[in-house]
Amino acid sequence: MKNAYERFVRPLLFSLHPETAHHFAIGTLRHASHVDLALRTLRIFQPPPKPKTVFGLTFPNPIGLAAGFDKSGVALPAWEALGFGFIEIGTVTAKAQPGNPRPRIFRYPEQQALINRLGFNNDGADVVAERLRKLRESGRWPRVPVGINIGKSKVTPVEEATSDYRYSFQRLHPFADYIALNISSPNTPGLRSLQTRESLSILLRAIREENQTARKPIVIKIAPDLSPAELEEMIAVCEENQVDGIIATNTTLDHSAISPRQNQEGGLSGEPLRERSTAFVRAITTRSTIPVIASGGIFNVESAREKLGAGARLLQVYTGYIYRGPGLLREIVEQL
Ligand code: FNR
Repeated sequence: MKNAYERFVRPLLFSLHPETAHHFAIGTLRHASHVDLALRTLRIFQPPPKPKTVFGLTFPNPIGLAAGFDKSGVALPAWEALGFGFIEIGTVTAKAQPGNPRPRIFRYPEQQALINRLGFNNDGADVVAERLRKLRESGRWPRVPVGINIGKSKVTPVEEATSDYRYSFQRLHPFADYIALNISSPNTPGLRSLQTRESLSILLRAIREENQTARKPIVIKIAPDLSPAELEEMIAVCEENQVDGIIATNTTLDHSAISPRQNQEGGLSGEPLRERSTAFVRAITTRSTIPVIASGGIFNVESAREKLGAGARLLQVYTGYIYRGPGLLREIVEQL
């Protein structure tokens, strides 16, 4: 049976262009983040507590907001009020950037999927750091862990990626409970080449150097399009460099679920990604004890159980939240 969001709110949002709907939603939550009454109202969606400790952090429940929804960190108090067990903002890049030309988000309701090629539109590390500093001073900083996902600026050549990540890390790590290194978006040319042994080792060494004082857990977000051999190597490099966690997975370039007539360039998310990302979770947890945060096609308690059954310690939602709405968290957490 459809919930109230699916019956009344989703038809309105889905009558808008996907990016317009997104601006409306994030704009509303941004305003709500400054208004105590609005935050109290959002709390009606809070799931019951199901605390969990992973890489030294305590999460009130295992379901977090995946990166990309709140790229510039404008609505942290609202996400906490809605009941997320943790919030990952970003991807933030060293330099502010507009992203790719529009249209760049596409809905596939029949497949419960999205394709996006946003290309890291975000306010840049300086502006985001200043916003987070002000939020901390305001006393509205969320009581749930906040992850900050960083990536490479488009104008920075991939050979200089390390200095770009280093800069964002320096600016943002004081505000983060963990830092996620995004080396897996399909929408920044060359980014996925950072997943190879040599490039990733260089990046991880540089981040480790930066991460000496006030050490924060470092997690890596990987693509679901790695070959088994590439994944094997990725796990080895993560272990050698004492990476604290792996987010599996980002969006996929496999668009076989979408008819060629409707297809678009970009990364596919949602239900058609579910099985593949679960297979990645399982492949990592059978080979390694590195904690895995599962992301890909979580829409209900069954798909959440599937990820936990494959060994995931934490979960993240994005596309499922667009399709199922704010009741999704309680629906899942109550039944886990
Ligand atoms: C994303 N995702 C994403 N990931 C990331 O690391 N940085 C980002 O900026 C974005 N941006 C983004 C925008 C949009 C519109 C979508 C749909 C997705 C990927 C996201 O965090 C998640 O890993 C995947 O979408 C898979 O999970 P779902 O959507 O199937 O729950």
